[in-house]
Amino acid sequence: MSTISSITAQEILDSRGNPTVRVHLELDNGVLVSSSVPSGASTGQNEAVELRDGDKTRFGGKGVLQAVANVNETIAPRLLGLDPVRQAEIDGIMLELDGTRNKAKLGANAILGVSMAAARAASEDAGLPLYAYLGGPGATRLPVPMMNILNGGKHAANSVDFQEFMVMPIGAPTFAEALRYGAETFHTLARLLAKKGHATSVGDEGGFAPNLSRNEDACELITEAIEAAGYKPGRDIAIALDPASTSFFEDGAYNLSHSGKGRKSSDEMIEMYQRWIDTYPIVSIEDGLAEEDWQGFARQTELQGDRIQIVGDDIFVTNPTFIRRGIKENSANAVLIKLNQIGTVTETMRAVQLCREAGWRFVISHRSGETEDTFMADFAVAMSGGQIKTGSLCRSERIAKYNRLLEIERDLGKGAEFRSPFVG
Ligand code: PGA
Ligand code: ZN
Repeated sequence: MSTISSITAQEILDSRGNPTVRVHLELDNGVLVSSSVPSGASTGQNEAVELRDGDKTRFGGKGVLQAVANVNETIAPRLLGLDPVRQAEIDGIMLELDGTRNKAKLGANAILGVSMAAARAASEDAGLPLYAYLGGPGATRLPVPMMNILNGGKHAANSVDFQEFMVMPIGAPTFAEALRYGAETFHTLARLLAKKGHATSVGDEGGFAPNLSRNEDACELITEAIEAAGYKPGRDIAIALDPASTSFFEDGAYNLSHSGKGRKSSDEMIEMYQRWIDTYPIVSIEDGLAEEDWQGFARQTELQGDRIQIVGDDIFVTNPTFIRRGIKENSANAVLIKLNQIGTVTETMRAVQLCREAGWRFVISHRSGETEDTFMADFAVAMSGGQIKTGSLCRSERIAKYNRLLEIERDLGKGAEFRSPFVG
């Protein structure tokens, strides 16, 4: 048995140049690991608290020195001497030390950094890759990626209201091929945009951020790019959307202000999605409605849930309490899973388990602010849900996850499985 001999944290920068937490954890046998915490921009109101210093003289108030101090001074002393395989106990001790409902005292950024580092140390100590340690010998399924190749909303400064337009290579035979399908489509889309006189600069997750006159034009352009890249829309590559509607839900209506299309009711949004589903090869819509619009979610699931995947992100915030309510009220049929929305590895795994028990799908997801840490790529294989969302085909904080999945596929060799959740 090995034990934790030191835990220290430091302030580093994420992909947007904002501070975040990195934790270094050492075992008594010399195993040394680190982990870095991501950060969202279109956050749900019920997410676990990301502790920021608020000191305007540093990083505009976004410093995380308090979270770092919480790791070094409060968390570390309590965990020294523990075996890192005792993940649930380690996470439980941190929950107890925090004592709040939403990790407001120590910060979910402090707690998650330690939680992920403990898992990684335990895997190294066991001589196993992280995905195999967390998922066991059955963790052989590579996820189909949702690749966000056109950005809008809070992730870009353009005229598109909806945050994410993603391609999903559902017909690819392997993960490596899926990645190639996606990259080729991404580059074809660049040429198409340039030809039509649009900008090819990118947003926070590496997708293009052109000014389009209608949100729908993004679906049109992507479908055209899929074909021009030599693939069949709907068979080889499908479309997944994350409008992130909470970010433009104002006074009870959906305000499409970027595109100047005015305010829409919940029913009008659902009707619009219906038209899009009938026109484009869409297989999944995440946060088509806002986090407080539980009724709208249930209505969309009733009307469209047989045809497409309805994913809840802000509405569930990876929190078992909200996922349970969603299952009871048929609010969706899938959950977006983000480690930092809930703040520990143990609770995230419990959220995934709830989905499995309800026969719901789940998608392991990055945040718009990321680091070079690839924990979530291993986590996706470990959870075996068959889907991952980790951005576009450029920007190394996104590509790092894809490259890690390539390594895992190679590592699994003939044992690797790649199967679309939407076919067969
Ligand atoms: P965020 O967005 O990481 O900026 O919160 C991602 C998402 O909405 O899925
Ligand atoms: Zn989302």
